[in-house]
Amino acid sequence: MKTISIINLKGGVAKTISAANIAHILATVHGKRVLLIDNDKQGNISKMFRIHRYENPSIAELLTGRNANIYEIITPSQYETLDIIPANMTLIKANLEVLLDPSRPQQTRLRTALKGIAGDYDYCVIDCAPDINISTINALVASQEVWIPIKIDNFAFDGLAELKEQIENIKEDFNPELSLYGCFVTSYQNNEVNRQGEAWLHEQKDYPVFHTHIRRTEKVDESTFANAPILEYSRRCGAARDYLSLVTEYLETVSDSDTRGGK
Ligand SMILES: Nc1ncnc2c1ncn2[C@@H]1O[C@H](COP(=O)(O)OP(=O)(O)OP(=O)(O)O)[C@@H](O)[C@H]1O
Ligand SMILES: [Mg+2]
Repeated sequence: MKTISIINLKGGVAKTISAANIAHILATVHGKRVLLIDNDKQGNISKMFRIHRYENPSIAELLTGRNANIYEIITPSQYETLDIIPANMTLIKANLEVLLDPSRPQQTRLRTALKGIAGDYDYCVIDCAPDINISTINALVASQEVWIPIKIDNFAFDGLAELKEQIENIKEDFNPELSLYGCFVTSYQNNEVNRQGEAWLHEQKDYPVFHTHIRRTEKVDESTFANAPILEYSRRCGAARDYLSLVTEYLETVSDSDTRGGK
């Protein structure tokens, strides 16, 4: 199982939209077995896939519970090969509880929990909160790849250096397999600001960048009201086609480097 954390310290840059749609495309277009983890108290992924319920166990129990049964937490979606670990506001308390309980390792709990089910999935995609807290640290410790969605505006690159430093620290202390796989531009508009911002990003040697950007389309906002992946809501809109291209670009790069024995 390849585990991908979608993260940016900035809010509202399309982390959730990207995690949901990348996971949905990997599962329904490419036939991969995918586990999508909602790792944000806002529970937007859980709401989008209509599994947001306080009576069911969630990521909070996985992080705090000694005997949490991951099979009881994993919830099937309406798509055959896409399962979800939900989240809700109980994650706030869970984060505190983890911090107050040093009797067990605090940063490796998600990784330990996922070990038992790694053979059941090809990909695990984790939607993170716009923050570095103990649950995002757990996500990074459990991941091989970090993908960073970036929405170009005046503050677009704030926090990027800090995030990169966190990735380096976690790589050194807990998870030598972790790498910043790629940044990708979201909500792209064909204007000077976006063109310049994207060009700047491509010039940065420290930040790998996907060629594909995701165009801004009103349909994406609408799809959140419909609680539907963009491919189902509007298959032909720019954002749907771009998410398809992003996943194809990724799978081609992965299979290229596999045949070369790289990355
Ligand atoms: N390609 C797009 N075109 C138009 N709107 C978009 C696009 N991608 C995302 N949005 C909109 O941007 C908003 C933020 O998206 P999203 O919730 O995925 O961001 P986020 O980074 O997960 O936010 P948070 O930091 O709160 O978790 C949503 O209203 C979403 O509909
Ligand atoms: Mg989000």
